[in-house]
Amino acid sequence: MLKISSLKKFVTDQMAIDLGTASTIIAVKERGVVLDEPSVVAVNEITEEIVAVGQEAADMTGREGRDITVKAPLIGGVVADFERTKKMLAHFVKKARSGGSNLSLSAVMSMPSDVTHVEQRALLNAAEEAGIGKVFMMEEGLAAAFGAGVLATDKRASAIVDIGAGTTSVAVIAKGTIVHSASERFGSNEINDMLATHLRRHRGLQVGEETTELLKTTFVSSFLPDDISRAIDVRGRDVQTGSPSAVEITTGEVYPVVEAVVRRIAALVKDTLTELRPEVAADIYDRGVILTGGGALLEGLDQYMRSYINLAVSVAEEPRYATVNGLVKMFDDPKLLERVTRNELGVLQNAEIPFEA
Ligand SMILES: Nc1ncnc2c1ncn2[C@@H]1O[C@H](COP(=O)(O)OP(=O)(O)OP(=O)(O)O)[C@@H](O)[C@H]1O
Ligand SMILES: [Mg+2]
Repeated sequence: MLKISSLKKFVTDQMAIDLGTASTIIAVKERGVVLDEPSVVAVNEITEEIVAVGQEAADMTGREGRDITVKAPLIGGVVADFERTKKMLAHFVKKARSGGSNLSLSAVMSMPSDVTHVEQRALLNAAEEAGIGKVFMMEEGLAAAFGAGVLATDKRASAIVDIGAGTTSVAVIAKGTIVHSASERFGSNEINDMLATHLRRHRGLQVGEETTELLKTTFVSSFLPDDISRAIDVRGRDVQTGSPSAVEITTGEVYPVVEAVVRRIAALVKDTLTELRPEVAADIYDRGVILTGGGALLEGLDQYMRSYINLAVSVAEEPRYATVNGLVKMFDDPKLLERVTRNELGVLQNAEIPFEA
């Protein structure tokens, strides 16, 4: 049988990997986050070759050369394009490894709670083929909870809502175990899509991803702004003529677009919290919910959530890093890692353990 408790006794590079729809974040014990890059690759459509990975590929988005396409190999937190996910992960792992280290490598990785066996196997295989000797998979919600400061020894329940780019998940944790969870393959990127659709349909302007991301992070908010006439110029391509063009939009105009998405996220949380057992519900009534994931950074989201669910809502410290921070904690607690690891049995049994004491 695999003794994860022996993990500490041998020398390996230990890595925590949050392979997300929008970004891949890698942390190493004692060094913290060493890599944080967009989960994209740039592909030459003629040769099918990957010409750039991560930040370098993302920088080409929207202005890529004629034969180049920037692609996201993960959709909704799971592998959509296996070959490219593998290559992207291998690139990131190599980059994150401490200066040419050739120690054996083990990693703790997160996965969405609702992955199918096939999807989980794809994530595992991608990690193994990326040169990771041992992979421990754990549920994203649990990792995010530990990263947000929830203790595995706490017998009272805590609720964590992770709002990623392509997924939103609600996890209710007690004693280091998920007691209830729900997730939807729908996240903060929906706001970008809705903003682009609004501009195209109602203002006749086609805009790129960089533009909607800038609008989302600097202009829009989840509550009706005091000054609904605050305006900004948005540039893109005129739908009718195809010419470069610009329109002026106001905070009042885009507010309903954003609110529709935020409401759907809040409704998922509210519905999920009606499914709890009485004692668990009592704990959550006292403690409220913690928000994690990049989506939690949206202006006023916590405020919106608070009034929608009528409970206390707080945003975790470094919400984008909650998952990876939780994963990295597992290295200090091999017993807990053993308990939370959700690898398929066959894969676990085949895992090699070098220099076992
Ligand atoms: N300041 C900000 N304001 C609003 N949204 C933000 C901000 N910063 C990041 N985001 C959004 O957060 C999302 C990325 O979050 P995160 O890095 O947690 O996702 P992910 O883990 O890659 O995705 P998933 O968990 O769905 O696989 C993106 O949609 C991004 O636009
Ligand atoms: Mg995530």
